[in-house]
Amino acid sequence: MSHGSVSLSGVEVSLEGMAPFQPESLLGTVVGGRYRLSGHLASGGMSAVYVAEDTRHRREVALKLLQPHLAGSPEAVRRFLCEGAIAGMIDHANVVRILDHGGEDGACFIAMELLEGEGLFDRLRRMGTLPPAEVVAILVQVCNGLEEAHRHGVVHRDLKPENIFLHGRRVDVPVVKILDFGVAAGAHGEGGDTGLVVGTPEYLSPEQAFGKAADARSDVYSLGVMAWRMLVGRPPFAADSADALIRMQAREPVPSITSVRPDLGVPPDLVAVVARACAKDPADRPASAAALALELARAMGGTVKSPAPMPRPAFRAPGEVTGARALGSPDRSGAAAGKGRALRILAAVALVLALGVAGAAAYLHTRPQQPAGAAPTAPAP
Ligand SMILES: Nc1ncnc2c1ncn2[C@@H]1O[C@H](COP(=O)(O)OP(=O)(O)OP(=O)(O)O)[C@@H](O)[C@H]1O
Ligand SMILES: [Mg+2]
Repeated sequence: MSHGSVSLSGVEVSLEGMAPFQPESLLGTVVGGRYRLSGHLASGGMSAVYVAEDTRHRREVALKLLQPHLAGSPEAVRRFLCEGAIAGMIDHANVVRILDHGGEDGACFIAMELLEGEGLFDRLRRMGTLPPAEVVAILVQVCNGLEEAHRHGVVHRDLKPENIFLHGRRVDVPVVKILDFGVAAGAHGEGGDTGLVVGTPEYLSPEQAFGKAADARSDVYSLGVMAWRMLVGRPPFAADSADALIRMQAREPVPSITSVRPDLGVPPDLVAVVARACAKDPADRPASAAALALELARAMGGTVKSPAPMPRPAFRAPGEVTGARALGSPDRSGAAAGKGRALRILAAVALVLALGVAGAAAYLHTRPQQPAGAAPTAPAP
């Protein structure tokens, strides 16, 4: 990748001669005919997130906007619109709620519920590590939302603290929200063996590192790495380059938490669950997000009944001919509701455990994260 271009999960865009994007310059602009941008929240590689006033409903929303210089890239536009469509069909308390998306004929936007609170990345930067019960309470909620995504045939592929939000005014009892389905598989018909590496090197599963198709167990691996990072205060692998990190994710076993930091006193059952989630072979990991949630809760002494297995409808990209169900109308069958209840019980058990934990977290500093985006090559298998 030359300095005059950016590569975002395979979307290569020339920046030759372009002024850097200034998110504040768009404040006051009305997007999609009704969203007036009133504050800038964050900027990523492809987009910027704003607070906006929905002038039709007179409420505040969060508005994610494709950066204007990417509007000329059909691939970037297509992926952005797919992100809105994917996230919009997942209706779950632990996935950020999409209110609207569009922009085929103008600025591409995704309007979302406006979350209040703190991103998990910021929480970790502030705290260094989190107590084991809090880690489990957060991850069980992530698993709940993720299980619903997987049930729709969607693999997130970029789970990391930056894409998890702790929503709510009370820091001790947040509702955990999964954000950013920007590189989710299922959306672009690229869940298969494309040879492209998409995701963030620190949290990449071995199969992603090899450019292979990623299934639900790939997200389980990323959650395992996230758990490791939350408990230890840094991710398990560090390297000077994205390529080196990707090679480590592909081949090197994730070290046991106890071997790296025996002093942390992480409960042995939790160490073992995290190690299983981080297994190099997907067959050795918990088979689903729901299974991981159960194992995490049990490791902290929770006893919960395993939810029944669910059929998994496949995601269809926008524009594809759909069968029984249209995009944006998630399946709310009785079985799904039953499973949702079981997982909510899990969340409640874990939350109670979290609230029971005393003691302050150790204050360590996190190392800077690699930016999200593509590494151009996968190591040879
Ligand atoms: N609905 C929301 N409410 C409040 N803040 C949000 C919301 N959605 C996103 N944010 C903030 O914006 C940040 C970036 O959002 P997100 O991860 O969706 O985009 P991104 O990483 O910039 O995407 P990309 O890499 O595709 O450009 C989040 O980490 C969070 O702090
Ligand atoms: Mg993000």
